[in-house]
Amino acid sequence: MKGRAVYIKTFGCQMNEHDSERMLGILGTKGFIEVDEPKKADIVIFNTCAIRHKAEQKFFSSLGRVKHLKKKNPQLKIIVAGCSAQLQGEKLLNKLPYIDYIIGPDNLHVIENIIENQVSHRIFTDENPEVANINLPVKRKDCVKAWVNIIYGCNNYCTYCVVPYTRGKERSRCVDDIIKEISLLGEQGYKEVTLLGQNVNSYKDGNTNFPLLLEKVEKIEGIKRIRFITSHPKDLSKELVDVMKDYKKICEHIHLPLQAGSNKILKLMNRKYTYEEYFEKICWLREAIPDIAITSDIIVGFPQEQDEDFEKTINALKEIRFDGIFAFKFSPRLGTAAAKLDGHISEEVKTARLIEVLKLQDEITERKNKRLEGKIQEVLVEGKDEEGFTTGRTRTNKVVKIYSDIKAGEIVNVKIAKTHRHSLEGDIIST
Ligand code: 5AD
Ligand code: SF4
Repeated sequence: MKGRAVYIKTFGCQMNEHDSERMLGILGTKGFIEVDEPKKADIVIFNTCAIRHKAEQKFFSSLGRVKHLKKKNPQLKIIVAGCSAQLQGEKLLNKLPYIDYIIGPDNLHVIENIIENQVSHRIFTDENPEVANINLPVKRKDCVKAWVNIIYGCNNYCTYCVVPYTRGKERSRCVDDIIKEISLLGEQGYKEVTLLGQNVNSYKDGNTNFPLLLEKVEKIEGIKRIRFITSHPKDLSKELVDVMKDYKKICEHIHLPLQAGSNKILKLMNRKYTYEEYFEKICWLREAIPDIAITSDIIVGFPQEQDEDFEKTINALKEIRFDGIFAFKFSPRLGTAAAKLDGHISEEVKTARLIEVLKLQDEITERKNKRLEGKIQEVLVEGKDEEGFTTGRTRTNKVVKIYSDIKAGEIVNVKIAKTHRHSLEGDIIST
């Protein structure tokens, strides 16, 4: 019998990428194979992102392009999963009735019932208090590095952010399940794990907090590198910095979203730290781990951001000198507190501010990378790039193009010959 086929398109963050791996895991156990074009599929899944207007627009245009496929193949099922599915639920189904099912991030497990025709409704967006205890099968994209969920949802209610409404309340996964999953990954030959959560620092299962969880993961055989995203600055503790310093598998990189340099804006964002407190934590990290790479997220054009507030973000970037940033124009999201604030900033000003931030950061990143010329970096080989070059990442998460042909999964020392804004290159040196 011909196997059934699934096409999946993922928008947004690593959490969504991993949710797609979990949906493919469920479908894989039912004999589905993944295909690269919607027209070859029996099921098309859009795993959506609602964080900014642009991400939602991208989903709507992709969805529009598959509508006609139902005419040729009336059996085709279209499933919309992820954060927009959760937020828009019934509205989406009413507007676009050719969608068959809507599945929020807490309800991925229902895919199994859907393909077996064992469901009586089309919308699955109820809060699922058990989400952290459900261990779904995973079909991973990569065979060197793996994502592992440790905490679901978010309780922080930053005023610009829809995530607490799409992914629900914070729920930590049980420590034994996490350790079991990572141990298996180690046995299967995976070299790197990235622990995932909206705010990994607030992980808690019984007496195990995030630093203690990291200590446990450090001891797992086969795993050579540990990463985690994302950390909320308010919850970054000295205890975590000590563990990062003392344990050799934990990579020298942290993604610590600052969002803005002005205390007035940070307060309006409900970030619960001041710029000075944030900067102090940067100093802890750099004192303990001098070579650490620090990356961040910045939002420009938040409501009421005056020129002098924006200037503080610019000054923060100059003072901290991140290794890289993701910068975004503020995008008002329905239902969030920031969308209702007075003093929205014009699109023109937002664009000008974004350009200024990116230009400044590009110069900083380029200069920081330049300092690595002639230095030796430990690189975990991940595979080949489009030009056929071997590529991997440093412990500080910088992409490296290697001149020699090396197998994925090897850890090698590379002497950096050339640096670019977004990558490094060089060749292995004998150890
Ligand atoms: N507008 C712009 N950027 C946003 N982010 C989250 N919500 C919004 C929004 N409404 C950014 C933040 C966050 C990152 C994942 O996305 O910088 O850290
Ligand atoms: Fe959104 Fe803030 Fe939670 Fe991050 S910590 S997911 S920005 S509410």
